[in-house]
Amino acid sequence: MPQPLTASRSARLKGRVRLPGDKSISHRALILGALATGRTPIMGLLEAEDVMATARAVTALGAEVVRTDAGFEVIGQGVGGLFQPASPLDFGNSGTGSRLILGVVAGHDMSVEFTGDESLCRRPMARVLAPLQTMGLQVEGGRTTLPLKVQGTHDLIPIVYELPVPSAQVKSAVLLAGLHAPGQTTVIEQAPSRDHTERMLRHFGAEIQVLDRNGGRAITVAGDAELHGRDVSVPGDPSSAAFAIAAALICEGSDITVEHVLMNPTRIGFLDTLREMGADIELLALRDDTGEPVGDLRVRTSALQGVTVPPERAPSMIDEYPILAALAAFAEGETRMQGLAELKVKESDRLAATAAGLQACGVEAAVDGDDLIVSGGGEVRGGGIVATRMDHRIAMAFLILGLGAEAPVTVDDTSMIATSFPEFVPLLTRLGARFA
Ligand code: S3P
Repeated sequence: MPQPLTASRSARLKGRVRLPGDKSISHRALILGALATGRTPIMGLLEAEDVMATARAVTALGAEVVRTDAGFEVIGQGVGGLFQPASPLDFGNSGTGSRLILGVVAGHDMSVEFTGDESLCRRPMARVLAPLQTMGLQVEGGRTTLPLKVQGTHDLIPIVYELPVPSAQVKSAVLLAGLHAPGQTTVIEQAPSRDHTERMLRHFGAEIQVLDRNGGRAITVAGDAELHGRDVSVPGDPSSAAFAIAAALICEGSDITVEHVLMNPTRIGFLDTLREMGADIELLALRDDTGEPVGDLRVRTSALQGVTVPPERAPSMIDEYPILAALAAFAEGETRMQGLAELKVKESDRLAATAAGLQACGVEAAVDGDDLIVSGGGEVRGGGIVATRMDHRIAMAFLILGLGAEAPVTVDDTSMIATSFPEFVPLLTRLGARFA
């Protein structure tokens, strides 16, 4: 059943909040924990549907995931030690879980069925299957979307792979497969994408080398690897923080602090863009948490200016474009977001969904090739009904837009928000946001 929700103009958001754990790091902690020998205690794991689907998948593959007083603990089977699950692995809405675990299954002599919800079954898997097939994975019937059945092997071939699309998921799948191959597996990326897999592999004892190369990176992992269980602490998700930050920027008289946010340089393109737009955001207490930089962010209501966001910034803020577009509607002048081809293959076609949502709320927005152009005038009429298209970030972005618009904005279905940020409504309500 769809769960519609309406957001109404709000003011004076106040308070300190700590957001749930980073989704990307949460998936990886479960997966590397399953591939390690011994125990991996995880503090701050994101308890959202996407991550729980990964927890169920690694359990079905033979790892143990248990809840503890401090959070979760994974008891792994060692690299190559997982076994064939009894039934298909269902990843729900999660592209990350399904693609990364394809890389894991590739290195095991087992036959596994992968499936997911309607949105995930529409998303391209060829990008990850192609390099894994070169390494030795077999795919039944040549399918390139879920549901699909694959056969892995203990005899993977190490490869050097240049990513044709800027995708941390593809990079990670190949690196995870490379753990099982003899020799070295290298992934080359044109521009740095999120590097949590590399950081965490190192933390778990894998041999990994990262070289800067013409603005991009070459990442090499040594095969026949041994990973050892390690403590992991998951910082707050900057992609979830983006919604609270955006709300504070547009709701009159707001002053909030978002605590313990992941500040990894491959994830903070959104903050860089906001600063260019004139946002009042102060970074407090930058520190390290298990190999990842974290900080607290103080955000106050700000008058924003339109900007051009260059295409090379996209990988560092790929999930933040819907909420940036919502903010651009409140900025003075035009915001042009360039090079967004990848947005078309997210949980929905986010380029189209964002433009349509803005138009439904009376905002001038257009798609020009792979660019999104939003013309802001300081005020947003609102009053529209926005189609979520099974996409959590579309739902959240337009609820935030409704907090600053003149007339309330209704989102047709908010059930998907639970895939990444189940606390979204209560947490923003605590700060002073009005939803009904
Ligand atoms: C993710 C990578 C990104 C991002 C997704 C999470 C990850 O996808 O959109 O939400 O955890 O590796 P791509 O790698 O396909 O760009």
